[in-house]
Amino acid sequence: MVRKITLIPGDGIGPEISSATKDVIAASGAEIEWEVFDAGLQAIEKYGDPLPDEVVESLRKNKVGLKGPVTTPVGKGFRSVNVRLRMALELFANVRPLKNFKHIQSRYTGIDMVIVRENTEGLYTGIEHMVGKDAAESIKIITREASERICRYAFELARKEGRKKVTVGHKANILKLSDGLFLESARKIAQDYPDIQFEDKIVDALCMNLVQFPERFDVLVLPNLYGDILSDLGAGLVGGLGVAPGANIGEECALFEAIHGSAPDIAGQNIANPLAMILSGVEMLKYLGFDSEAIRIMDGIEIVLGQQEKLTPDLGGTSGTKEMAQAIIEAMV
Ligand code: NAI
Repeated sequence: MVRKITLIPGDGIGPEISSATKDVIAASGAEIEWEVFDAGLQAIEKYGDPLPDEVVESLRKNKVGLKGPVTTPVGKGFRSVNVRLRMALELFANVRPLKNFKHIQSRYTGIDMVIVRENTEGLYTGIEHMVGKDAAESIKIITREASERICRYAFELARKEGRKKVTVGHKANILKLSDGLFLESARKIAQDYPDIQFEDKIVDALCMNLVQFPERFDVLVLPNLYGDILSDLGAGLVGGLGVAPGANIGEECALFEAIHGSAPDIAGQNIANPLAMILSGVEMLKYLGFDSEAIRIMDGIEIVLGQQEKLTPDLGGTSGTKEMAQAIIEAMV
């Protein structure tokens, strides 16, 4: 059955890695029809809005999307496209699977964890103001409803994937009300999952433990800001932003995206690593039930990484984005 999917190629290297990903997915046999939309800088230039309504409407209609990175202009003006999409579509869970690749060098081995980040509130609600000229205030919102929802999502994911442990990260020792509520919610939800081990860790100690023995962690669940930071820390543990996929999941819609940015420094040179975007496409295929197609792509990726011949410069090779994607296609059986 052909599935219609919304595709946002994005800015910078976005169009190059999106095109590579489309080719790889087509070669996997998954029947996808793409509805392509501009968002980010290109949309500002064309429509005066980085996130035109038609993009959100398409995602609402198709329920699933794949997104390249978009450039966020720094400072005042437009609100982040990513944050707007998460809010508009109630994509409450940001999910980052982190696993070592056999052939990608990292300081660690044996990592296989998922970071689940609350995506809709915390310090990212954008409620900020100046207090006089010389002070600024940001308001952190933590609700019982959103906290219980994300914790339940983390436990359900653990159960579905046969994982053994959920760790909640927090700073409830200092932020007694806000993080206290998040922790209280996690403890309550944990009672419904006696088959899954539960622990809580103060987020600074959690960071230290992640670099000491990351292989001990399985599913992590965190409020928005800590989740954002630890997700990138986690990407670093398994080989960097170039190999880390991500997903934003809601009750109705899901949006898959590489976690790196638009890399304007290397845009248009055909040297961007397409892997994170392809891996996000693989997560999307799994979500859609295209399991054999997802496995086919993963097998192709492992072969290309193992051969070490068609890799982009960030992975130590001299190949281009297109050539690496083509090698994955040729390696797929
Ligand atoms: P970045 O991730 O774009 O780049 C950081 C470094 O990693 C750069 O040296 C870049 O060349 C390299 N890099 C990133 N992706 C790569 C890839 N696939 N292959 C090879 N090298 C890669 O982060 P930066 O520079 O902080 O952000 C640039 C823009 O991207 C900003 O406007 C930022 O707001 C936006 N951004 C967008 C995101 C999204 O749409 N999901 C996520 C993060 C940043």
